[in-house]
Amino acid sequence: MQRRHEGRRILVTGAGSGIGRGVALRLLAEGATLVAADIAETGLKETVEAADAADRDRLHTVRIDVADPESVRAGCASALNTLDGIDVLVNAAGIMRAAHTHEMPFEDWNQVIGVNLTGTFLMCRAVLPRLIESDHPVIVNFSSTAAFGSNPYMAAYSASKGGVNALTHSLALEYVKHGLRAVNIVPGGINTGITSGLQLPADADWKLMARLTGWLNNGALGDPKDIAGVVAMVASEDGRYITGSEIRVDGGALM
Ligand SMILES: NC(=O)c1ccc[n+]([C@@H]2O[C@H](COP(=O)([O-])OP(=O)(O)OC[C@H]3O[C@@H](n4cnc5c(N)ncnc54)[C@H](O)[C@@H]3O)[C@@H](O)[C@H]2O)c1
Repeated sequence: MQRRHEGRRILVTGAGSGIGRGVALRLLAEGATLVAADIAETGLKETVEAADAADRDRLHTVRIDVADPESVRAGCASALNTLDGIDVLVNAAGIMRAAHTHEMPFEDWNQVIGVNLTGTFLMCRAVLPRLIESDHPVIVNFSSTAAFGSNPYMAAYSASKGGVNALTHSLALEYVKHGLRAVNIVPGGINTGITSGLQLPADADWKLMARLTGWLNNGALGDPKDIAGVVAMVASEDGRYITGSEIRVDGGALM
């Protein structure tokens, strides 16, 4: 394993499950000092248990509800204090609510936008003043193939991820003179809590869902490790010429 993140101070949201956990463990294994944040404290405990014993003294946790401005303020203050600054922010917290668009409850729409899009904004806003003090500041945000292909029954989710793309592009240019890089990761279907908990409408037409998985691995869902290695590259100096753009990691689903 390379040690590209030795001495780097990193905050990862959604680190209590799936992709966020995979990313946190990979960055930790590459030498980072890391705060794993999530709304679910049981998930954070499992992430700590999954870390190599030799890495655990560099792993800290904090409960943050990314959709709640006060929770973000307090949680980020605590994380920045623990890390004594920050070099990389990874926004992997996210939720999905599927429905026919004409039946989608207003509350579900707002919750999806609130966590996926507003949550990403709130986290960036909270850490940016300290992040741009870093020599090599990086923000990695999570988009989805849902924002590029057409995913039925997922209008709120797709719209939230389209918003994340635009938010990331704005950040990349606005803070480029501070040396900040901001990149969107665009996963296809990955085997995590979001996909195992996916509840489509009872009469959903599965033929419309053909592009949920890629062509690699005989069409099986990807693994969080498939994403974690890419994030580790992007957030390291190996990714130093990547900003304001997307990296699609979908097994070829959209080709
Ligand atoms: N799994 C996929 O197929 C896939 C595809 C494209 C994009 N993504 C994106 O990847 C990211 C990670 O998702 P995942 O697939 O690992 O799902 P997951 O459900 O396994 O993990 C999501 C994590 O986010 C946390 N979370 C939810 N709401 C939160 C909140 N308000 N505050 C803080 N944490 C909160 C959950 O507790 C959970 O630990 C998400 O942004 C998701 O949209 C996933």
